[in-house]
Amino acid sequence: MCAQYCISFADVEQAHTNIRDVIHLTPVLTSSIFNQATGRNLFFKCELFQKTGSFKIRGALNAVRGLIAATSEGKPKAVVTHSSGNHGQALTYAAKLEGIPVHVVVPQTAPNCKKLAIQAYGASIVYSEPSDESRENVTKRIVEETKGIMIHPNQEPTVIAGQGTIALEVLNQVPLVDALVVPVGGGGMVAGIAITVKALRPNVKVYAAEPLNADDCYQSKLKGELTPNPGPPETIADGVKSSIGLNTWPIIRDLVDDIFLVTEDEIKYATKLVWERMKLLIEPTAAVGVAAVLSQHFQTVSPEVKNICVVLSGGNVDFSSVTWMKQAERPAQSVCV
Ligand SMILES: Cc1ncc(COP(=O)(O)O)c(C=O)c1O
Repeated sequence: MCAQYCISFADVEQAHTNIRDVIHLTPVLTSSIFNQATGRNLFFKCELFQKTGSFKIRGALNAVRGLIAATSEGKPKAVVTHSSGNHGQALTYAAKLEGIPVHVVVPQTAPNCKKLAIQAYGASIVYSEPSDESRENVTKRIVEETKGIMIHPNQEPTVIAGQGTIALEVLNQVPLVDALVVPVGGGGMVAGIAITVKALRPNVKVYAAEPLNADDCYQSKLKGELTPNPGPPETIADGVKSSIGLNTWPIIRDLVDDIFLVTEDEIKYATKLVWERMKLLIEPTAAVGVAAVLSQHFQTVSPEVKNICVVLSGGNVDFSSVTWMKQAERPAQSVCV
């Protein structure tokens, strides 16, 4: 299995050794209300409680420590990324921990709270125009100027391996698990999880969950070739706007069992339910997996797939945008809770 993919299971094991002194072993919680609604046993892996508020620290720290191990002069001069979201915060935390300067390229239009969070962790922020072209040009310039190393949020192999450590923990915490449900953006998390699950427990299913408005992963599987989103998607799940890429696609193509699409209304409703019923402050991106298991489509999954772990991937809520909560009523496609 190793040769054709950018990482192997051994890389995930190595990642766990690299990062376990820093990351939290996040809890797995259950909810009888969600069990009743879905007719399954649901387990929620609470990465919203992870350091920096999302699973992203796993990959970021593994990448930074991997660089240190690989750099003969000791430490890289700087690390650079272009993410105004959770990866930007996580990479800043990881780099600061190791005493490495970090530069994060952020579009001028990014929400203030995100800029402030990245700044508060100690990164130097560099602004770009909102377009992909400007973001890439600015990143290239910063890499050249600082002699830094770019760490891609979801295609960098050490990042993918770090995200796979979620599955190592879940397989221990929920030994009878039949399936994991994972939100997919660039696919780093679902790819790392799929490599791990299929190496250790090949019969356990790995399902990806994706907004209908950002359905590149679904389209890629359908067509059998990498099919990025045609333009910037409009979705409340801002963490999964990016498309899967060259490194994550082969793993997703071969090892992810199915993909569930959810509407914006389903994502909003699932977010509200988790806040209200479970008292967990997840961000809407993390609700994509919850919306998937609540969807009518999910009811077509065999009843033998009974014990299902949904990854609640983050809790960095942008409170200035929460006006949508008023309209978060149950959509017709969601089961009744
Ligand atoms: C909270 C959250 N969930 C899920 C994802 C998707 O992860 P990936 O891009 O590795 O698929 C992200 C990505 O930023 C995220 O921030």
